[in-house]
Amino acid sequence: MIKIAIIIGSTRPGRLGESVAHWVNEIAQKRSDASFELVDIKDFNLPLLDEPMPPSLGKYSQEHTKVWAAKIDPFDAFVFVTPEYNHGTSGALKNAIDFLYKEWNNKVAGFVGYGSAGGTRAVEQLRLIMAELQVATVRSQVMLSLFTDFENMSVFKPDPRKEQSLNSMLDQLIAWSTALKTVRPA
Ligand SMILES: Cc1cc2nc3c(=O)[nH]c(=O)nc-3n(C[C@H](O)[C@H](O)[C@H](O)COP(=O)(O)O)c2cc1C
Repeated sequence: MIKIAIIIGSTRPGRLGESVAHWVNEIAQKRSDASFELVDIKDFNLPLLDEPMPPSLGKYSQEHTKVWAAKIDPFDAFVFVTPEYNHGTSGALKNAIDFLYKEWNNKVAGFVGYGSAGGTRAVEQLRLIMAELQVATVRSQVMLSLFTDFENMSVFKPDPRKEQSLNSMLDQLIAWSTALKTVRPA
């Protein structure tokens, strides 16, 4: 069974990301072609990157890095739920990504972005970051608008069509996860 992490990319008190990620998880749990788990970067209390060696060497020295690496390693694919901050992803998510290397390699990512323009600029930035980590990114993405998918720009009430958009992205994610699994050591 393909294992997929739904990663909450914001850590801010009062973040909207939490309700978005729970919606993703609720829809994903109805599927039987993969298993899904919510992963909240906030739970890992990662400081700004404090590893002396580049993560690509895999010589993690800090306990928090080892715990984060052990969490990410077993997954075949990731759904990044990302806010858009100043036309990019959140610093917290970029920092959490930077901590690791091989735990991401030869896997697959899909995106759920939210913001005034559907989080599209944050997702474009994440696609570049994923390329360096040898993560394949699927074309379909979920774009949630602060104006039409949130009441008063604060209460998450997604347009019902967004469920189909999410499932299209998950279809691609699962297909590619199955393919990429074959290039990783057993
Ligand atoms: C530092 C900061 C920068 C932001 N910049 C953008 C932006 O460039 N584009 C955008 O669409 N929304 C921007 N916003 C609005 C966010 O999309 C909105 O606050 C959203 O709720 C953030 O996600 P979160 O609540 O999960 O943290 C910004 C918000 C913050 C806090």
